[in-house]
This record gives sequence, structure tokens and C-alpha cells, in this order.
Amino acid sequence: MASGSGVGEGSAGGFSWRLIGPASELSKKRCRLMHSSLGHAADVCLFYVQGEFFAMDARCAHSGGPLCEGDIEEAGGVLRVFCPWHDYDFDLRTGRSGTSLQQQVYEVKLEDGNVYVKHPSPLSLKAFPAVQKN
Ligand code: FES
Repeated sequence: MASGSGVGEGSAGGFSWRLIGPASELSKKRCRLMHSSLGHAADVCLFYVQGEFFAMDARCAHSGGPLCEGDIEEAGGVLRVFCPWHDYDFDLRTGRSGTSLQQQVYEVKLEDGNVYVKHPSPLSLKAFPAVQKN
């Protein structure tokens, strides 16, 4: 069926729109960490800057620094986040760095007042339950 759209729950390996939450709440902070069900390394930052949302991998492509804690600056109309660990910068829109590094970015959409991020795994503002140890 070519017309099959909507929330694809079982589409392993495919990107699906993941509901994150209401834009009115998410826009109150400059960055939120979204946990990935795939684990820590796949977590995503949701930035809200100048009235727009941006999503990018939360761990810096250099050595895994926490981009959610980075400063954001605008220069020449380009918004960049600066990694707090070694100060590499990444374009919020494209993920490109002034170095040769590339940070993965994800599409974001607003629908009915809610923010969605297109990502291969479910995303959550709360950590996914830890693997049971007992
Ligand atoms: S870990 Fe981000 S610049 Fe080194």
C-alpha cells in the first residue's frame, strides 16, 4: 500500500516521526536531551533557538561531548552550537563543522502544537527504564 503513512511502530531501521511533546513546553528551554531507546550513544538534543526547533545527535562527533550543554552563537545568519569539551562548532541546521566533522541532524516538524522528530528509534524526554538487573 503506497498510501501507508502514520506512526510506523515496527519499522526497524526506518526513520519515523517521533512525538516529543507540546511546543509550548519544549520552547521554554534552549536545549532538551531526548533519550533514545537505542541507548546513551544515540541520544538527541532538541534545541530551540530564535523561534525554531533543531534536532541533532547529543554526543559530539569528535569525542562524545555533551552538545546540549554547549553555547549557541549566530554568525552570518548561521546558528552554531559549540561543544563544551574542545569547542568544535556545528551548524544547527546541517550538522556541519568548521572542522571536517559532521554531526547527524534530524528533521523536526510541528503539528497541532506538538513537536515531532524524525528518528530511527523512539525518543523520550525521560530516560528509558534501565535494563532489569534482578
Ligand atoms: S568532544 Fe566535542 S569537540 Fe571534542
